[in-house]
Amino acid sequence: MSEKIVLAYSGGLDTSVAIPWLNDKGYDVIAAILDVGQAGKDMDAIQAKATQVGAVQSIVVHAQDEFADDYVTPVIKANALYEGAYPLVSALSRPLIIKKLVEIAHENDAHAIAHGSTGKGNDQVRFEAAIHALDSNLKIEAPIRDFHWSREEEIDYAKEHNVPVPIGKASPYSIDANLWGRANEAGILENPWNQAPDDAWGMSVSPEEAPDEAAFLDLDFEKGIPVALNGEKMKLSELIKKLNEIAGANGIGRIDKIENRLVGIKSREVYEAPAAAVIMTAHKDLEDLTLERDVAHYKPIVEQQITNLIYDAMWISPLFDALLAFIDSTQQVVNGTVKMKLYKGQAVPVARKSATNSLYDENLATYTSADSFDQVAAGGFIKLWSLPTMVFEQVNHVHSDKLGE
Ligand code: ARG
Repeated sequence: MSEKIVLAYSGGLDTSVAIPWLNDKGYDVIAAILDVGQAGKDMDAIQAKATQVGAVQSIVVHAQDEFADDYVTPVIKANALYEGAYPLVSALSRPLIIKKLVEIAHENDAHAIAHGSTGKGNDQVRFEAAIHALDSNLKIEAPIRDFHWSREEEIDYAKEHNVPVPIGKASPYSIDANLWGRANEAGILENPWNQAPDDAWGMSVSPEEAPDEAAFLDLDFEKGIPVALNGEKMKLSELIKKLNEIAGANGIGRIDKIENRLVGIKSREVYEAPAAAVIMTAHKDLEDLTLERDVAHYKPIVEQQITNLIYDAMWISPLFDALLAFIDSTQQVVNGTVKMKLYKGQAVPVARKSATNSLYDENLATYTSADSFDQVAAGGFIKLWSLPTMVFEQVNHVHSDKLGE
């Protein structure tokens, strides 16, 4: 009897040729298709294709809400941008995909999992680190990495095994997409001096093509998470989808980046994350209004750590859990509304309020007669604040000796 294997199936050529390849190795393939909100994909067609090319079973897992609620939320709360720019689109879906694959393996008494990642990317590490953590007894197959097909060999193999090969001009790019955004690499993008052509983008118009009128919108946050758009409450997955449309139409969220991969190489990727750009900018703005100064100044240290853990395949790790607990505790007060202006590629906060948690006290900040700030106390404060440097200068004269030079 052949052994069962659960394959992370996307419907593309790589994971499609993986099916006969795994069959040849003696596996019965259960194809698992994860719906994490990749726009424009016909899940039924992908499901049918898997069995057509040789899977014994093909399962679609609808995981958009779980993806939004459990995987995107830490990124929003932690303002997590890898190397200051990339909102971790692909890095986020990997641990969820593996969680679902391991569940399917357990339900179906399968003892192996396969993925279609190459040997040069971060995703293989994210997939396999998560498998090792969740069930170290599972065997891992990585046909695309281990077989090392050239494109021509892959197409020949596909033809021999009745795997449909895209006719005409196949996409020159390697694209990964979900609710939170889209990542595109390879093809003409491999030369970082080549500007990304129009067809490299899929979720946004260019800023030049965006409307000449600015769009304004209000985002309500509860505990650091957006819960309403223009006053209308909606679940997070819905809100992200709506914002992707609105912000994408305003040319927002394009990122063209050279990045440092975990496996040591630099790569060039173009990302689109319109909703993420709006939500994360608004979130940071609301934090500026509601976080106490020391928390606000300390949090970026934790943010950077947690961002790198997510990128570097350590979603399942005790340090991630501990840092997320810190982040969550800071978010209890991040409640309020931010008004965003979207205009030709830019999303900027233009107004903000928090009825319950604003630390902005107009009576303390004002220069009018309503002033309640104790200006007399400021003189004494400055004396004590500068006491250590005053004493140091009196003893060492580092700067005071240079007067008049
Ligand atoms: N470089 C990004 C990451 O490691 C995205 C990888 C997605 N793959 C792609 N085919 N574009 O998270």
